[in-house]
Amino acid sequence: MTTATSVTTTSLQDRLDTYWSGRAVEYHAHQVSGARAAIDRELWTSVFTTSLEGCGVDKAGALDILDVGTGSGYLASLLTDAGHHVTGVDHSPGMVAAAHAAHPDLRVLIGDAHAPGIPASSLDAVVNRYVLWTLPDPVAAARAWRTLLRPGGTVVAVDATWFPHGVDPAMKVPSADGEDAFVRTYDPATLGALPLGTAASMEDFAEVFRVAGFTDVTVQSLPQVAELDRRFGVAPGHESRPHFVVTARCP
Ligand SMILES: C[S@@+](CC[C@H](N)C(=O)[O-])C[C@H]1O[C@@H](n2cnc3c(N)ncnc32)[C@H](O)[C@@H]1O
Repeated sequence: MTTATSVTTTSLQDRLDTYWSGRAVEYHAHQVSGARAAIDRELWTSVFTTSLEGCGVDKAGALDILDVGTGSGYLASLLTDAGHHVTGVDHSPGMVAAAHAAHPDLRVLIGDAHAPGIPASSLDAVVNRYVLWTLPDPVAAARAWRTLLRPGGTVVAVDATWFPHGVDPAMKVPSADGEDAFVRTYDPATLGALPLGTAASMEDFAEVFRVAGFTDVTVQSLPQVAELDRRFGVAPGHESRPHFVVTARCP
């Protein structure tokens, strides 16, 4: 893990929010179109429901879940369909608008992963996918999530080691702000200010939860994603990267 640079957290988060707002419409469209979409949804439903087994020990059925950095509501939607009570938060207004448009019945709020604005001890689980890598302070965020969980509650976080060698300056990602918006946003200064932005090991992600005081921290690779990447290809501008799921228990 690298440490934060002189980029202030506020201006850094502003840059990130602007990028994700510009990316939101295409991001959502990609997730729900093409031959891979239905298979992906089955995969992520399986990964998250399996990882949530045993969570909420006093409950037989529905869990109270927060999807942090929900984007256009992907996980929030599939976990709602699995029978849970889910709230999504995201800091990008464009992403929250995309979530509302795609899933009008979902509860999706503007909120910061580092301080989601949810009552303490009110959740059985905090979930997220592809968010840890882009957080300015993942340990502070994980500490905040601990306070939201009831004892025995669980974090389930999926991510990948996206940029261990930095962002390729030729990378082109569809966005309302132009195909170079990703490269302009995640420039070396920004990437250097994101502690997991250039992480090379899934253990770096697991370590965040140990440092934040969670117990029973596990990390497991998800080779199924690489297999789907081979069969269907990846999102425009992206490379197939090693995926994993981290689980952590609130003491
Ligand atoms: C790669 S997208 C993942 C979206 C969604 N989790 C998914 O799996 O489709 C990253 C998301 O994290 C959000 N994000 C970045 N920083 C955040 C923060 N500090 N608080 C809340 N959300 C944040 C972005 O706005 C974006 O929607």
